[in-house]
Amino acid sequence: MSNTVDIIKQRTSANNFDPTSVLSTEEIEALVQLAIETPTSFNMQNWRVVAITSPAAKEEFKALAYGQPKVKDAAVTFAFIGKLNGYQDLPTLIKPLLDAKAIDQAAYDGWIGMAKGMYEGHPQNQRDEAIRSSAFAAMTLMYAAQDKGLVSGPMIGFDATGVAQALGLGENEFPVLLLAVGKPAPGNWPRKPRKNLSEVLSIK
Ligand SMILES: Cc1cc2nc3c(=O)[nH]c(=O)nc-3n(C[C@H](O)[C@H](O)[C@H](O)COP(=O)(O)O)c2cc1C
Repeated sequence: MSNTVDIIKQRTSANNFDPTSVLSTEEIEALVQLAIETPTSFNMQNWRVVAITSPAAKEEFKALAYGQPKVKDAAVTFAFIGKLNGYQDLPTLIKPLLDAKAIDQAAYDGWIGMAKGMYEGHPQNQRDEAIRSSAFAAMTLMYAAQDKGLVSGPMIGFDATGVAQALGLGENEFPVLLLAVGKPAPGNWPRKPRKNLSEVLSIK
């Protein structure tokens, strides 16, 4: 079994975290550096993350997460933030490809034009894409954490308006999910049951 398969099969959502465990800034950066490798539509990279580590911030975000203890106990809780107007960053983001002559001007213009057509004036597409990108990035981070011997706990149970206010988010940003990461404490649940393959997969 490959290491990737091991990691996928070993990951579970942890509820109990060792409150004495800490992650250094370098360890947090290493996790997020891997999450940055996550693919996004048009390579918009329309997400970012805030690492909640200080005791005061953990206390504040625990309350915003309806008292979920893992926000306080985990070494870090990542707040994944989706960006609605990420397509507007594309001219800058993909310019290195143009400069390196990996794409020509027509491809560059077409790339930006297609993204504009899909997202400009289409708020549902903008929101869907920000959630997709943030969710994929969070999944990468969960597997990166598992690879480093850590556990993780994704959360949608939080006051989105309160989190947006606490993080000072602008009108083009919103919190997508919280993700607690750290060392486990005893008492976490075993793997949970999954649907049968036949319930999930159909081949046409
Ligand atoms: C988007 C998302 C939101 C979740 N929100 C919460 C949450 O707020 N609190 C919690 O304890 N678990 C939360 N979970 C954990 C799920 O309950 C858990 O992933 C699911 O039961 C499957 O278990 P497993 O992750 O151990 O395989 C969330 C999971 C996901 C993917």
